[in-house]
Amino acid sequence: MIKANLKLLGAVLQNTLSKAVFLRTPEPEVLITDPLSVSEYAKAEETNMSVIYAMSLDYIHRIVPQEIRDKAIDLCCGPGVCTSKISSLLEFNDVIGVDLSEPMLNSARKNYALKTESSNLSFKKLDITKLDSVYEKAQFNLVTFMCAAHHFQTLQDVRSVISQAENVCTDNGYIIIIDLARLKTKQVTDKYIQLMGEDYLKSGYTSFYNEFKNSMYAAWTTEELASCVSPDTRKKWYQLSPMGLPTLQLIVGIPPKKSVFNNPPLSQTVIKKILSKEPFPQWSYKALTRALTFSKLKTLN
Ligand SMILES: C[S@@+](CC[C@H](N)C(=O)[O-])C[C@H]1O[C@@H](n2cnc3c(N)ncnc32)[C@H](O)[C@@H]1O
Repeated sequence: MIKANLKLLGAVLQNTLSKAVFLRTPEPEVLITDPLSVSEYAKAEETNMSVIYAMSLDYIHRIVPQEIRDKAIDLCCGPGVCTSKISSLLEFNDVIGVDLSEPMLNSARKNYALKTESSNLSFKKLDITKLDSVYEKAQFNLVTFMCAAHHFQTLQDVRSVISQAENVCTDNGYIIIIDLARLKTKQVTDKYIQLMGEDYLKSGYTSFYNEFKNSMYAAWTTEELASCVSPDTRKKWYQLSPMGLPTLQLIVGIPPKKSVFNNPPLSQTVIKKILSKEPFPQWSYKALTRALTFSKLKTLN
């Protein structure tokens, strides 16, 4: 891991000292429907991708108070890895994952919904750009939108999704958006893709590696994603991104006058259950949580 630490340090220095010149390349495919891509994505929790899942679930847990863990909707749920854990690990009463890709939904149903005895986890086909025409106002205590904002072609599309997320969220509810963040140059982006994506290649998931690469190229910068929060919002919004190498970002909309963090972090036992057992994800989770601990929570409105 010494080599990985040195590579990461090199990327941190390079990004810090660079001027932002890397233009965005939109995702070649908006939906993930190709059977190989879907099956590799469904297995990605065995790889370094489990780091993003562990971090996401940890922050959802820290933020959302226990007493409002009733109804949750996970927008662009993909293979349903996080959706299912919002139900099983974070103990929401009723969780629905929505996506527009039928193959993703089939995978999510097969791997998760059909395996649970209760009907408190379900997956439904939905174009999330039409979210508030399908769901009535104020019915979810939690709306999550994870690793998917970069799949939208314009910031206007993302703005519309976030404002619809607010419409379907209860007044005392929480909106949590997590996504990758574009780095300053192509050179440092490629270095990061190589370092983190090595694990996907090692597992033989070439298609998932390409998906990760496309995602890093299509990601919105922290400033771009922050600009998608509407000035007319009824929530209080915050943003968090890891210090040093801001490759990820969290944007959180919470009820005004409430605290962002309401619970201690998930226990190490639970985190270990989410993280892939391989040494590389264990190492990169440590690096990421350390960087997030030292990061400043930014107020957006
Ligand atoms: C990169 S995946 C993220 C999956 C999941 N949230 C995760 O973190 O594992 C992005 C997902 O967004 C879905 N998607 C893209 N545009 C969509 C839309 N307009 N409505 C619903 N789903 C959409 C794709 O089909 C894909 O499954």
